[in-house]
Amino acid sequence: MTKKGRVFSGARPTGRQHLGNYLGAMRNYVALQDDYDCIYCVVDVHALTTLETTLELKQNTYDMALDWLAVGIRPEESVVFVQSHVPQVMELHTYLSMVTPLGKLTDLPTFKDKVRENPNNINYGLVGYPVLMAADILLYGTDFVPVGIDQAPHLEFTREVVRSFNYRYGKPVLKEPQMKATSVPKVLGIDGVQKMSKSLNNHIELAATPEETTQRVMQMVTDPARVRRSDPGNPDVCNVFSLHKIFSPQADVDMVNVECRRAGIGCVDCKKLLAKNLNAHLESFRARRTDLDKNPAYIWDVLDDGARRANVLAEGTMVNVRSAIGLP
Ligand code: TRP
Repeated sequence: MTKKGRVFSGARPTGRQHLGNYLGAMRNYVALQDDYDCIYCVVDVHALTTLETTLELKQNTYDMALDWLAVGIRPEESVVFVQSHVPQVMELHTYLSMVTPLGKLTDLPTFKDKVRENPNNINYGLVGYPVLMAADILLYGTDFVPVGIDQAPHLEFTREVVRSFNYRYGKPVLKEPQMKATSVPKVLGIDGVQKMSKSLNNHIELAATPEETTQRVMQMVTDPARVRRSDPGNPDVCNVFSLHKIFSPQADVDMVNVECRRAGIGCVDCKKLLAKNLNAHLESFRARRTDLDKNPAYIWDVLDDGARRANVLAEGTMVNVRSAIGLP
């Protein structure tokens, strides 16, 4: 079957994935496989720009890859690999850096955010983060990059660097990729205020046991204006309801939507219902994950094989890049 083009996406190795990762990226990764040739990369080198220690890097890489495969990424079709296993990306990064004005990097909102978050670790690699991301994308002749809106400036930067490079060396060696913006729901953490993230510990892990999941759901913050059981609630501002809309059957969504507003159902029962539906939704994922986890060597084999396939594509690009530059 001929596909509609090549998709590339990368994610930093954050270990066991949570509902935010699932709804924001993983679910989409799985779906894209039907129509595109997909490459999914664990960007361990990008992680180094902010990591304080690398002690957990290997385990986090394994855990994320395991979740990716368990959720339905098919390594026979898609290339799944670790960024540092194809070192040509570092080489391309260096060449791209020569056509990148420094001010363009320091002006990026994503860079300014990182500076604010880590004022004591503003390293050279951090400034070059978008250049390395552009190298990821361009090394594999990518047509489409599925990313959230927060990454849009990096995609725009990538497109600009392609034009600068091709113009500078007089040949259309690099392909301008397109952003594939996907409508992803903004997934809030159990605090109901901030985006779900592991670092804020407001997340619900996909691989948690049903009991742990229920416990986390029961801790979720609901409509703050609903203080007593007898107060009517407003599902429109309730994070529990947001998740019902994603994970519960329509009949349950409709029931909660009506009963919450007239205090017919309390938050405790509403959450129990969500936990039940969420656990049902995750059941097959968890079974598959447990199964895959029995043979860690298989996960590493998949990543090795992915690196081999990625390397073929990468070397093809680099031959043209080196020749276009005129390296002796
Ligand atoms: N910068 C992306 C993020 O923080 C991760 C990433 C690295 C990426 N290289 C990429 C995403 C290439 C898409 C394509 O989420």
